[in-house]
Amino acid sequence: MKIVTSKSKKAINVILHTQKTFKKENEKKLLKEFGFEAKDGQTLFLQNENTFFLGCEDFENDTLRAVFSTFAKEASKMNFKNYSFKLEDVKNISAIVEGVVLGTYSFDYYKSEKNKDKNIILHLENSSKNFSKLVNDALIVANATNYTRTLVNMAPQEMNPSDLANEAKKLAKTNSLECTILDEKEIEKEKMMSMHAVGRASIHKPRLIHLAYKPKNPSKVVTLVGKGLTYDSGGLSLKPATSMVTMKMDKAGACATLGMIKAISELGLNVEVHTFIGAAENMVDGSAYKPDDILIAKNGVSIEVRNTDAEGRLVLADVLCYAQEKVKSDYIFDFATLTGACMVALGSYTIGVMGHSSKLKHQISSTPSGEFTGSLPFNKHLKKMIKSDVADISNIGNRPYGGAITAALFLDNFIEEKNKNKWLHFDIAGPAYTESPWDCNVFGATGASVRLMSKFIKNISKEEI
Ligand code: BES
Ligand code: ZN
Ligand code: ZN
Repeated sequence: MKIVTSKSKKAINVILHTQKTFKKENEKKLLKEFGFEAKDGQTLFLQNENTFFLGCEDFENDTLRAVFSTFAKEASKMNFKNYSFKLEDVKNISAIVEGVVLGTYSFDYYKSEKNKDKNIILHLENSSKNFSKLVNDALIVANATNYTRTLVNMAPQEMNPSDLANEAKKLAKTNSLECTILDEKEIEKEKMMSMHAVGRASIHKPRLIHLAYKPKNPSKVVTLVGKGLTYDSGGLSLKPATSMVTMKMDKAGACATLGMIKAISELGLNVEVHTFIGAAENMVDGSAYKPDDILIAKNGVSIEVRNTDAEGRLVLADVLCYAQEKVKSDYIFDFATLTGACMVALGSYTIGVMGHSSKLKHQISSTPSGEFTGSLPFNKHLKKMIKSDVADISNIGNRPYGGAITAALFLDNFIEEKNKNKWLHFDIAGPAYTESPWDCNVFGATGASVRLMSKFIKNISKEEI
């Protein structure tokens, strides 16, 4: 379904009803005959009235996003081309655009029978002056989210570290971004031996990907770091068969940072953005790293490996060091499908947010984006859990509790003192991938954190320089 801001005379009207607005007596009688009671998510199409009725609980963004997802899916099954909706409040634009664009996404790359594009159009109408710009901006973010979804959904044999690097190069070309790729040798030369160990047993060797969007006089500089495990078998601490399935999604953090820089460059925001991706495949062969190995990260910290399945933090450790060395920025955010423990703590719909700065965490939790975030607190006792008897730190906690936080505290060892309050870690293990649809998410990758960050960076771009 396409969204435009032009009017159409022949279009089917889309009308929203809450229980409160569902009052007009005649209409109510007629609609009730058809069993429509304006319940949340209820739909009714009346051809005689040339109208598609949608029931919703209220006019809140979270409600509208889900309702418009349902509408778009149902309309796609019908044989009409044009729909029109009069939008009363421009604050609902993103929710409606996201509902339609994200709700009708489907990944058919590997299907013999492709989904047919029926070329259905939703005409959004509103009299505000900058309406088409607002719609266009919302479309940019929604399309970038779908771009991330597709990268994550690609099968691992077709999206290995060098494929991911090629995707980044392609994006750099179309969006005029700077692009640097380090191969295995250069990664070794940079002394990123923690990341190197994780990726070296695969025939697809690791890559470090750096993209930069540089407007002329940026008001802020933001660094985005992504975990790009194009496959996580667990390594020698092999995952059980059922847990391994879906582990192509372990690159979701990396793909999200690509979606973010795509959105921000297309929105033309006055913020300099750098994405740093650690792309690697966690596999096994004779050269695989193993429990008991001790790795030296780029900043000299020694790490005792006690579980090769806690590999994401080993990759991020070096990439965080590299990113801080290369760019002086105001914010450092990392995105990773880092721990199953984050899902235990927050459920699978919520992004776990961790870091030292309460102010920054509050800024994130008060960014309305349609995505759920929950803050998980550090404390000095949890910090002791990753102590090692033989090295500076261990790559897993000594007890199975608080695993999302101990993973973040591990990363903290690679954040320079001056950057402590600029850094936040986002664990997207829960919401990055779903096998049952929820909200505007369909089967597979969700593009988690792209909307959140696009919104956040848009907000900071408006702050005083
Ligand atoms: N990629 C996984 C985390 C994950 C699990 C993401 C499920 C999405 C869904 C990560 O590399 C991992 O394996 N973490 C381990 C850490 C443990 C060994 C300390 C985990 O969460 O079990
Ligand atoms: Zn793992
Ligand atoms: Zn992983």
